[in-house]
Amino acid sequence: MDIEKQFEAAFSRITLENGQPLVSFEPEIVHACIVNNDFAKITLILPEDSPLRGSLPAQIEAEIKQIEQIERVAVEVLAAPPQENNPANSAAAKAASQQPKRTAYLQNYEAVIAVASGKGGVGKSTVSVNLALALTQKGYKVSLFDADIYGPSLPIMTGKRGEKPSVAANRLIPIETYGMQTMSIGNLVDENDAVIWRGPMVHQALEQLLRDTNWPGGDFMIIDLPPGTGDIQLSLSQLCELTGAVIVSTPQDVALIDAVKAAQMFSKVEIDILGVVENMSFFACPKCGEETAIFSRNGAEEACKKIQAPFLGAIPIEVDVRIGGDEGKPLMANNLDSAATHAFRTIAKNLVKSLEEG
Ligand SMILES: Nc1ncnc2c1ncn2[C@@H]1O[C@H](COP(=O)(O)OP(=O)(O)OP(=O)(O)O)[C@@H](O)[C@H]1O
Ligand SMILES: [Mg+2]
Repeated sequence: MDIEKQFEAAFSRITLENGQPLVSFEPEIVHACIVNNDFAKITLILPEDSPLRGSLPAQIEAEIKQIEQIERVAVEVLAAPPQENNPANSAAAKAASQQPKRTAYLQNYEAVIAVASGKGGVGKSTVSVNLALALTQKGYKVSLFDADIYGPSLPIMTGKRGEKPSVAANRLIPIETYGMQTMSIGNLVDENDAVIWRGPMVHQALEQLLRDTNWPGGDFMIIDLPPGTGDIQLSLSQLCELTGAVIVSTPQDVALIDAVKAAQMFSKVEIDILGVVENMSFFACPKCGEETAIFSRNGAEEACKKIQAPFLGAIPIEVDVRIGGDEGKPLMANNLDSAATHAFRTIAKNLVKSLEEG
C-alpha cells in the first residue's frame, strides 16, 4: 500500500471520545500532514477550549507511528481561526457566508502577481526570478514565493539549494537572496524525500507557507506557479487577493493555445491578466547578431489581442539565462548587458505601467 493510503487508513481508524470518526468531523480537524522520510508532522486546528486538545494529539501520534516508515511524529495544535463577530442571523452575515471564502494573506504587498502558463517548461520560474530582480533593481521592495509545491525550482535558481529558513516566534523567516525575500517548499523538505501531496494537502501546504512565513510586505510579491490550471492556481486564488497574473508563453502555437487557456482560467476566478511575456522568442547569434526565430515569432503579441491583455515583452534564448538558472546566479544578478537583460528591464517597466493603468 502506498504511503498516502497508509496515512488515510491511519486517520480513518481514529475515533473521538463520543465515537465519531475523526475524519467525519466538521470543520476538518486535520489541517495538514507533511511527511519527510521517517518524520511526519501533523497540524490540527482545534479551538482553545476544545476538550479534544487533551487526548487527540497522543491518539493521532500513536496511530501514525503504526505506519512502518514513520519513526517520529510531531503533532502541532493551532487554534481555530477567530469567529466573525457579526450577529449570525444578520442578512449581511448570511450573504457573506455564502460567498466563496477568500482569506487574504499577503495584504502587506502593494501588488501580488502570479507568473503562470498553460504549458510546462516555458520559463515561468526563469521569468519570476529575473523579473523580480529587475523590479528590485528599479528600487522596489520585492518578495518571491515559490508556489510550485510539486516541483519547486526557486531554491536552485536563486542559489539557495539546501538552505533551511530560520524560525522566530514560531514563524519562518524568508530567505534573503539578491535583495529579495524568498520562500519555497524546496527549502523546507529535502530533495528526493517522499512528500505526500494530494489536492487538499497541497492547499494546506500553500496556506501554511503563506500563513507561517513572516512575509515582510513591500511593493511586489511575485509568485512562481506550476504549469497549468490545477489545484495550486485555484487554491492561490482563494488564499490571497491576487492583483493579477503574468502569462508566460513561447511563440509556438501549442504553447499559445495553453496560454490562452490559462488566461481564461484566471478570468473565471476574476483575476486580471496584467500581460503576456513571450519567452524564447528568438536566438540572436552572439557572433553575427543575426536573429533566428526558433519557435516562430510574435505569436504572443497575436494572443494578447485575443485575450485583450497588454504585451509585456519578448525574451530571447540566451545561454546565460540557462546557466544563470542552473548555477543559482540569475541572469539579472550578473550585471550583463545583453538582449535578455534589456528584455527583462522592459518587461518590468511595462508591468509597472500595466499596473498604473489598472
Ligand atoms: N530565455 C531563455 N534562454 C535560455 N534558456 C532559458 C530561457 N528561458 C528559460 N530557459 C531555460 O529553460 C528551462 C525551463 O525554464 P523554467 O524552469 O523557467 O520553466 P518553467 O516554465 O518554470 O518550467 P516548469 O513548468 O517545469 O515549472 C530552464 O533550464 C531555463 O534555464
Ligand atoms: Mg517552474
